[in-house]
Amino acid sequence: MEIMENILPAKINRRCALRSVAGAAASLALPSAIQAGQNASLATLAAARGMRFGSAMSLKGLAQAGYRDLINRECAIIVCENEMKWLFLRPTAKAFDFAKADQIVSFAKSTGKRVRGHTLLFHQGLNAVWDDLCARNGAEPTLTGHIAATIAHYKHTVHSWDVVNEPIDPKSSRPDRLRNSPFLESMGEKYVDIAFHAARDADPSATLALNDWVAPYKPKYFQNHRESLLRLLERMRRDGTPVDALGVQGHLDASRSDFDEKAWSRFLAQVAGMGLHILVTELDVADRGLTPEIIARDQIVAGHAKSYLDVTLACRNVTDVLTWGLSDRFSAVRLYLPRHDKLPNRSAPYDADNRSKPLREAIASAFRHAPRQERQVLEQKG
Ligand code: XIL
Repeated sequence: MEIMENILPAKINRRCALRSVAGAAASLALPSAIQAGQNASLATLAAARGMRFGSAMSLKGLAQAGYRDLINRECAIIVCENEMKWLFLRPTAKAFDFAKADQIVSFAKSTGKRVRGHTLLFHQGLNAVWDDLCARNGAEPTLTGHIAATIAHYKHTVHSWDVVNEPIDPKSSRPDRLRNSPFLESMGEKYVDIAFHAARDADPSATLALNDWVAPYKPKYFQNHRESLLRLLERMRRDGTPVDALGVQGHLDASRSDFDEKAWSRFLAQVAGMGLHILVTELDVADRGLTPEIIARDQIVAGHAKSYLDVTLACRNVTDVLTWGLSDRFSAVRLYLPRHDKLPNRSAPYDADNRSKPLREAIASAFRHAPRQERQVLEQKG
């Protein structure tokens, strides 16, 4: 981390201007309807700051009218929670199956939303079809063929892709901490670049993101994750790999009290200094270990997210904030961090009955106090 600090150019500090100063100036320019309006949607509040708000959605969510309405009301962007992953698109070696993702995409189009694509390459959710195709055609053609066909199918719809998902494993014994995966095994470290070049060839104007669950906490483990990600991005930029953005997933853990504000803000500044945009792609807040008492629990969850978003949105290269589900009914936290007492998680901005929670207000408040983001970021890229 010391090495990185030394090469930090002065302009980055201006880009990631302190929120308190920039936020105060920007609030003067807010339309009064929004300043006063408690009813403004999260998408509207984000747009007032030059950002976009959205959420992941699954087919199950799409099937529920109340949830559909909520997504429609709050979001400017939708991302398929699982339906564009390999497992869903490649059930057989013979043909792609876009039908499930297409249903969500149709809903997005019919309600005037943008669509993010998640994800073209992920070590999770591969099936035997991957192995079959690699054995038959080789790994690189299998990967580039998958990327070309998927992007071609969604070319005029998906404006932003998670090209490579979770490439870093902080526990890896490799010096670059690249995750041991079928991609690394078959293609070596260049698999990342191969994927990005294939994506750029398939769509010259889409925003191409590297997406990772990198978190803002103090321990060495998290620090290693941030450092390795920076090194990977620097290496990609040096080699001319067409990466436009870093997706920071934003899977937070409200039981932690070691949020390292300075390190997180420095990390974002370093990413911004490489000329990359930053997207919060999968925000949710784990409540394992917190009190079962709902009012107190919701406040802790909201406070944790507010601290994170205040620091994050102070970085002026942040263009989008997406939650990983909008209600507790469709939050994936129950899968990866269920509570020990088996009570339902309260990790999303709305409860299981689509009632607004303090987390929703925390996100709204973070947008209200954020500085205006770099305008050209949104204008250049779809
Ligand atoms: C998760 C989904 O939410 C679950 O439904 C699925 O069972 C596993 O994957 N980081 C990512 C997402 O990039 O793709 C993961 O989504 C959550 C963590």
